[in-house]
Amino acid sequence: MVDVQDWQEVVTAATRAPSIHNTQPWRFTASADRLEVHYDPDRSLPVLDPSHRQQVISCGAAVEFAAVALRAAGRQVAVDVGPDPGDPDHLATLRVLGDRPADADDASLAAAIGDRHTTRDPFLPQEVPAGLFDRVQREAGEHGVWVSELSGADAELVTVVLLQRAEEAERGDPAYRAELEAWLRTDPQAVDGIPVGAVPADHPATRSTNWPGRDFLVGRRTPRPRAPVADDDPPPSVERPTVLLLGTMGDDRTAWVQAGRALGRVLLRLTAAGLSAAPMTQALDWPATRTRLQVELSLVGHPQMLLRLGWPSVAGSATGRRPVAEVLTTR
Ligand SMILES: Cc1cc2nc3c(=O)[nH]c(=O)nc-3n(C[C@H](O)[C@H](O)[C@H](O)COP(=O)(O)O)c2cc1C
Repeated sequence: MVDVQDWQEVVTAATRAPSIHNTQPWRFTASADRLEVHYDPDRSLPVLDPSHRQQVISCGAAVEFAAVALRAAGRQVAVDVGPDPGDPDHLATLRVLGDRPADADDASLAAAIGDRHTTRDPFLPQEVPAGLFDRVQREAGEHGVWVSELSGADAELVTVVLLQRAEEAERGDPAYRAELEAWLRTDPQAVDGIPVGAVPADHPATRSTNWPGRDFLVGRRTPRPRAPVADDDPPPSVERPTVLLLGTMGDDRTAWVQAGRALGRVLLRLTAAGLSAAPMTQALDWPATRTRLQVELSLVGHPQMLLRLGWPSVAGSATGRRPVAEVLTTR
């Protein structure tokens, strides 16, 4: 039996999950020993995500954060994911089976919930420990999700080209730009959306990287000339982030929730180890570039998430969340 105040704490942790454009497309219903997680269609992104795939992935990350919070509070939890024929927006149910002592790993993952932020700045040029990659691969595998590191010039080139192609198409699409603009926030107290302060202010073209981040400020930029480069200027150091691709065998809501759970777990595991990450999903927004990626990389299954990660060079900052009372119903 979990009381109302405890559910509020669990849902506070769940809502710290990442979500596409910080839309927080979730609702929760709690009873004595169950927490249902629902997709909220009122917060949809019809242009970028008409199938709701990325928003369901976001809800899956919230499921994982809730499970981590419950375990750290000494609860034994089972998670049921699967279609509810009576209610397709009911994505998952966490069932509390009883009590069990929390261990140090539960505590460290739970502490990572508050420390995790999407970090879009360049990472430090230091290697990511190989053992960590094995661990996230194994943990994502427990949710039926594969994780592969994009290595090798060919895989990198294909992915970068598709990201750039998608980014260009998006920049040129007025409907995409209007939707993005509607989720940009200048008020630092905003409870949803992307705060402009969470996005690097520099023009993406000035960044020494192959990996184009999503340009959240595209509608607000005025073109400006590049800074002049003198012949004897040293070449800029090029960003070489580690890039992970997460994928699933199926491509339905159940698979998307599982992809989100794996994403949530990977992000917490990275945060607990001192690393940061940022999704870069432009190439997965559009069926054409998403399918192209699948074919060109000979993927067994469907790509769900592209993530750049590394050691942070600056501390990230928290983005807003809606009050728990807005998203939690208790019975
Ligand atoms: C499915 C999904 C896709 C995302 N795609 C991008 C992306 O393409 N570029 C980006 O910078 N952030 C992306 N994000 C990160 C969100 O913008 C971020 O989670 C949200 O603004 C909340 O901020 P926080 O992660 O710092 O809490 C994505 C997140 C999710 C869950």
